[in-house]
Amino acid sequence: MAPGLAPKPPPPPMARPPTNPGHMLVLGTGFVGRYVSERLLSQGWRVSGTCTSAAKKMELEKLGMSASVFDATRSNLADLHALEDATHLLISIPPIPGVGDPFLSSHADLQRTLADGNLQWLCYLSSTSVYGDCGGAWVDEDHVVNPESESAKLRYAAEEGWLDLVDELDLSAFILRLGGIYGPGRSALDTIAKGNKSLSSRQKLRESKQFTARIHVADIYQAIRASMSIKSARKIYNVVDDDPAPRADVFAFAQSLIERRYPDLAMDPARSNIHDRIIAAEKRVSNERLKQELGVRLLYPSYRSGLQSIFDSWLTVKK
Ligand SMILES: NC(=O)c1ccc[n+]([C@@H]2O[C@H](COP(=O)([O-])OP(=O)(O)OC[C@H]3O[C@@H](n4cnc5c(N)ncnc54)[C@H](OP(=O)(O)O)[C@@H]3O)[C@@H](O)[C@H]2O)c1
Repeated sequence: MAPGLAPKPPPPPMARPPTNPGHMLVLGTGFVGRYVSERLLSQGWRVSGTCTSAAKKMELEKLGMSASVFDATRSNLADLHALEDATHLLISIPPIPGVGDPFLSSHADLQRTLADGNLQWLCYLSSTSVYGDCGGAWVDEDHVVNPESESAKLRYAAEEGWLDLVDELDLSAFILRLGGIYGPGRSALDTIAKGNKSLSSRQKLRESKQFTARIHVADIYQAIRASMSIKSARKIYNVVDDDPAPRADVFAFAQSLIERRYPDLAMDPARSNIHDRIIAAEKRVSNERLKQELGVRLLYPSYRSGLQSIFDSWLTVKK
């Protein structure tokens, strides 16, 4: 609960009409896109997705997806035939430095294609970076944005661009502002296990932050599914957990899990030094709207339960 926000009554049970399996098109089938795709496929959805290499295309096809190689800096929108047929569109390609969102330069063509097609739902995966530095204050979706870095500025421009694009289309549209994403295969546990002990300057800056919003990929999936159950245009949700803890604490916890079982994988102690903090884009991102309006009950409200579940899954695999 964010200090300063009045306590709200528990949400009414949300009507959750089952979403009939549709046709999802994922632009950028990366970590989140793949997680979502695998689950929709298992529920009978038709899923199409893009990636940037032939090797990845083969991997996605093995899952049962209809995959295409699409490099937004080079490929042509007209080659993306799934756009004409998809009922759901998940945009997961980040803005490109110096270019911005690669799809929005074809605004008119894209709008026409979507208007002529079957699209009912669109979701743009954004980032909490759009809030910039808020001096550690709690921020909700109504907080003024202050994107400072180049990538945050491009991200905010992309949000605006997608919202403009859907303005004249009759469909549900959502912007999900994600915290740092982790999950099986991408977490502090995996970083330690891979022995990545030297940090880039960007990582060092992140390491020194007092508050970092993060979210387990399973909870992003929950948010996406919940958004499909409501009709809503231009809605923005923060998708973060309840615990904006320092990254150093997350690594210390991951290290403690690993040390107990695999002492050889212990991390360089200098890595978890939390005394020398630089304040950078500090804020605590509130997830109240996600819980109240979408009725999402987080599976992993803290990095502790999230990392513990990833660690437990290692043990299951290793047995
Ligand atoms: N990682 C985080 O902590 C974090 C936090 C907040 C928001 N986000 C954003 O949330 C979204 C989903 O995150 P994620 O971790 O799932 O991202 P990801 O794993 O990096 O996936 C990004 C996808 O975009 C594709 N892509 C990249 N550049 C492209 C280009 N020029 N043309 C076409 N496709 C391109 C990639 O293709 P390939 O599959 O071929 O590589 C990949 O499928 C992304 O927009 C990400 O920036 C991430």
